[in-house]
Amino acid sequence: MPLVKCLSFDITIYDSLEELNESDRSLMMQSIGARENAYAPYSRFNVGAAVLLENGKVVIGNNQENASYPSGLCAERVAVFYAGAQFPGVKIKTIAITAASKNYEVATPAAPCGNCRQAILEYEFKQKESIKLLLMGEVGKIIQCNSVADILPLGFNRTFLK
Ligand code: THU
Repeated sequence: MPLVKCLSFDITIYDSLEELNESDRSLMMQSIGARENAYAPYSRFNVGAAVLLENGKVVIGNNQENASYPSGLCAERVAVFYAGAQFPGVKIKTIAITAASKNYEVATPAAPCGNCRQAILEYEFKQKESIKLLLMGEVGKIIQCNSVADILPLGFNRTFLK
């Protein structure tokens, strides 16, 4: 008989920024700041990411679009690749991600795309420690995930490569 297994994970849902602890709120504010400077003339969808490192430094990123659409890059990867380049070997503790549109008010927490989940998962494996994600729109609730692996179940990782 095949085995049916249910995969589940916990998230924390906050009603507003005021409910976050000071460190997370500050990180989210920096993500919002980064979002304002996104270069997104084509989608008009601005995303910001703020990466908190274990040394206390914060690295920010935002989406960078291109007239040749696939040449652009998401905010999360801009941020984590910059962190990896600038602070190699320093663990990532938390990433705050926020999205805003020039076409409508984003009231749903930002959802990192599959490529970004995969990119962040790499760092989780590398550092052998979970990365917390905080996801927010322009308004509305904030979702906290305790590990990127939770939102990329059955993900591909370095253990496949022998
Ligand atoms: N985008 C991000 O920056 N992060 C995501 O996880 C989802 C999408 C950007 C890419 C593109 O510039 C715009 O949002 C619309 O897809």
